[in-house]
Amino acid sequence: MSTPINSLRLLISDLNETKKWFLNKLQGNGTLVHIYTHLDADGLSSGAILGKAFYRENIPFQISVLRQLEREEILKIANYYEETKCLMLFTDFGSGQYIELIEKLKSLKEVPSFIVLDHHLPQKIPDKNDIKLKEIYNNSRPWHINPYFYNIDGSTEISGAGICYFFAKVLNERNKDLSPIALVGATGDIQSQGPNNSFTGLNTIILEHAIENDLIEVINDLNFSPIKPLNEAISYSSEINLPGLSDNTSKMLKFLQSLGILMENSDGSIKTLNDLNQDEKQKVSAGIIEYISLKLDTEPSEIINKLIVKRYILKNEVVGSELHDLNEFSYLLNSCGRSDNGSLGIAIAMGDRRIAYDKAKDQLINYKKLLVQSLTWLQEENKIQYKDYIQFFFGEDVIPENIIGTIASMLIFSKSGEIDLSKPVFGCARRKEEEVYKISGRAHQTIVENGVNLSEAIREALELSNLKALGGGHPPAAGTKVPVDKIDLFLENCNTVIKKQLKID
Ligand code: C5P
Ligand code: ZN
Repeated sequence: MSTPINSLRLLISDLNETKKWFLNKLQGNGTLVHIYTHLDADGLSSGAILGKAFYRENIPFQISVLRQLEREEILKIANYYEETKCLMLFTDFGSGQYIELIEKLKSLKEVPSFIVLDHHLPQKIPDKNDIKLKEIYNNSRPWHINPYFYNIDGSTEISGAGICYFFAKVLNERNKDLSPIALVGATGDIQSQGPNNSFTGLNTIILEHAIENDLIEVINDLNFSPIKPLNEAISYSSEINLPGLSDNTSKMLKFLQSLGILMENSDGSIKTLNDLNQDEKQKVSAGIIEYISLKLDTEPSEIINKLIVKRYILKNEVVGSELHDLNEFSYLLNSCGRSDNGSLGIAIAMGDRRIAYDKAKDQLINYKKLLVQSLTWLQEENKIQYKDYIQFFFGEDVIPENIIGTIASMLIFSKSGEIDLSKPVFGCARRKEEEVYKISGRAHQTIVENGVNLSEAIREALELSNLKALGGGHPPAAGTKVPVDKIDLFLENCNTVIKKQLKID
């Protein structure tokens, strides 16, 4: 089995070939580079890393943000190519559609040059151990780079932005300073999932680059939002349950005061985690450990495991800003992409701290409101429906397509017990301009470890339902679209496939 270092060596060597090929095509074409990228935090980080790298090399580029590389988008891209003759890069998608890309783009009169830098399971590849990966790797060099070719898990060990980062670094070593943005992407794709939120795989190497360059500092901190009022942050924590205090912000405020924490800042606002000094943090953590161990008879070590997390601090950002912490940074980018403001997210990830950043902060308020409204509505109106092996919900008029995946993720990652974690959840949102539902599937890690693979499940359910749409993603998170009149059939087939994956007869 290859070690991460050997895998990285081969990846870098291949990226050097990709770079040569790219620069050669660029000279030949003398043209614009067009980057197509995905709308989530990882996609925006991917686009920003390449944008910044090309800007530094004086390579003219354009970036388009797409909600997904659907077949219809590939057709539009092919038409657009006929006008522009640009050199194309597909980031954070493209692997899951690589056969379509080849078929459509290579059928054009003048065959375009394109590069795919992605981390999703390639089209027709059900899982990371599939032997056909080798064949795709051999047949698609040097234009297709994907971690699964190197025995690296694209779901957990590196994101699309990470792959773009290594490409940017091969273009020019100075792009090492983009390592934090690669980790913003990885964080957006929920890849800091090792013990106490640590990174694994190639993400740890990117983190080393960021630390060596004095860009990121890793600290052990309390596992609460650093920027929400502290009583709210603790009350609504999805990780820490304090019976009698959780979900009750005024009781939590009194509890914190009883620990001797002065809860008001000098301007009258309520303190956030960021406002606490080390001594105050110590008091809060001791108070919480004592409270939980008395109320729930839980071992302190078990509480500490949940209470203390690694926090990744971006050293060049303003303390307390939305960009100071990797989690908050990726949340801001995600909010941009999912509110049709992808270009703001890209500008911020490329370094804008003025106009784009101010606008992004404005729209963040509405985005957060929409998420809270959506979750409350699902819960209060009992909108989750069940089959034997899956659960699902429809967004109706409340949850739009762009956030259906975020809501499904929040449900599955929330530890508050509102949802059955033994079944994957499928969110379905009706698209406005097309007679389809956008589907977002999410599965908890425990069932993924027991055999659930949503990328494969969605592809198989599409096939069983005789549907031609593209679909896939990662084992714990995958998506597609389904015609309105086929939704029942599709969900029934998802149920059947998940049953099979869990080996239940
Ligand atoms: O769209 P959604 O957020 O539900 O997608 C979950 C994951 O599946 C994402 O990583 C997305 O890029 C991927 N996906 C895909 N192909 C699709 C739809 C989603 O690879 N057709
Ligand atoms: Zn991604």
